[in-house]
Amino acid sequence: MSGHSPVNTVLVTGAAGFIGSHLCDKLARVGKAVIGVDNFDPYYARIEKEHNVECLRRAGADFRESDIRSYGDIASLIDVTRPEVVVHLAAKPGVRNSVKFPRQYFETNLLGTQNVLDSCRALGVERMVLASTSSVYGNTKRIPFEEDDPCVEPLHPYAASKRSTELLAGTYARLYGLQISVMRFFTVYGERGRPDMMPRLLLNSLTTGAPVNLYEGPLERDWTHVSDIVRGLAAAVDRPLGFEILNLGRGQPVPLSGFISELERVSGKQANLVSAPRPDSEMLSTYASTDKLNRLLGYQPEVSIQEGVEALWEWWQAYTARDR
Ligand SMILES: NC(=O)c1ccc[n+]([C@@H]2O[C@H](COP(=O)([O-])OP(=O)(O)OC[C@H]3O[C@@H](n4cnc5c(N)ncnc54)[C@H](O)[C@@H]3O)[C@@H](O)[C@H]2O)c1
Repeated sequence: MSGHSPVNTVLVTGAAGFIGSHLCDKLARVGKAVIGVDNFDPYYARIEKEHNVECLRRAGADFRESDIRSYGDIASLIDVTRPEVVVHLAAKPGVRNSVKFPRQYFETNLLGTQNVLDSCRALGVERMVLASTSSVYGNTKRIPFEEDDPCVEPLHPYAASKRSTELLAGTYARLYGLQISVMRFFTVYGERGRPDMMPRLLLNSLTTGAPVNLYEGPLERDWTHVSDIVRGLAAAVDRPLGFEILNLGRGQPVPLSGFISELERVSGKQANLVSAPRPDSEMLSTYASTDKLNRLLGYQPEVSIQEGVEALWEWWQAYTARDR
């Protein structure tokens, strides 16, 4: 895409996390000055996040420990580093955990985002790329999911917190002239993936025989490899769009059973699956329309499930070998 000068300095929140660490790595490798921020939220083990930080530092990104729930902390960091764009990925993830602890999700995902928005506004940072999720579509009947769906029936507090955040971002864009690209990620998997998510639970089961709950369904997901997510985010960083919401998914849903079979084929092992009733909070299907992504960013995710799962298994073998 032409007509826009590439951005030089980017601040990434949630940098010690799964997607954030890959994004910092990617942006630093293409020559941008990257400042990663994270508070090592205890939702999963700090050691996993410290390993992610080592990876982004090796790629040349800077890292600061800071908490978006404090306006003062995040504002002073933005004041010192003066980024051109903030990519805001920091969040409390996890659908089932959000059903148990809803308040934490609004404190971090909604009020934490408001602190980031207010800091940008106060310090003259005009551009943000904001992480959202396919979960905002809830049980919509419009399939594939299109960005103009009203998304008024989120199934759990995590989705409600993310949809609220999108609405708040739209309000800030209109009132204060911020340019914000909201990217709705679809089931992200890949190397250094989150330990609470299905791919990691399956990998662990293949190696150790640990049981994994398989919800009665059938469930299908628009699995999107993390390298495709960060390519889409990098495109959004360099392309101001005003205020827009875009799906960032492959647009080719695959049944959970198909994803598992692929992982079993590649590994030559069998997962220990235990059938369990599907909670009401679990969506049956996710399916991205990628038309808008294509139209506005000229981008289409391209990693097939076969390629993605092979890369995932290769990483897992190296990752688990480290501990032996
Ligand atoms: N992984 C997916 O499939 C997926 C799908 C849709 C949307 N998302 C969104 O993508 C983003 C990244 O998700 P992820 O899967 O990499 O999760 P992750 O948990 O690995 O990364 C999120 C990071 O945010 C940090 N964080 C949490 N609270 C913070 C705070 N108060 N201050 C500073 N940092 C804080 C955490 O420590 C963590 O490192 C999130 O916004 C998530 O909602 C992820």
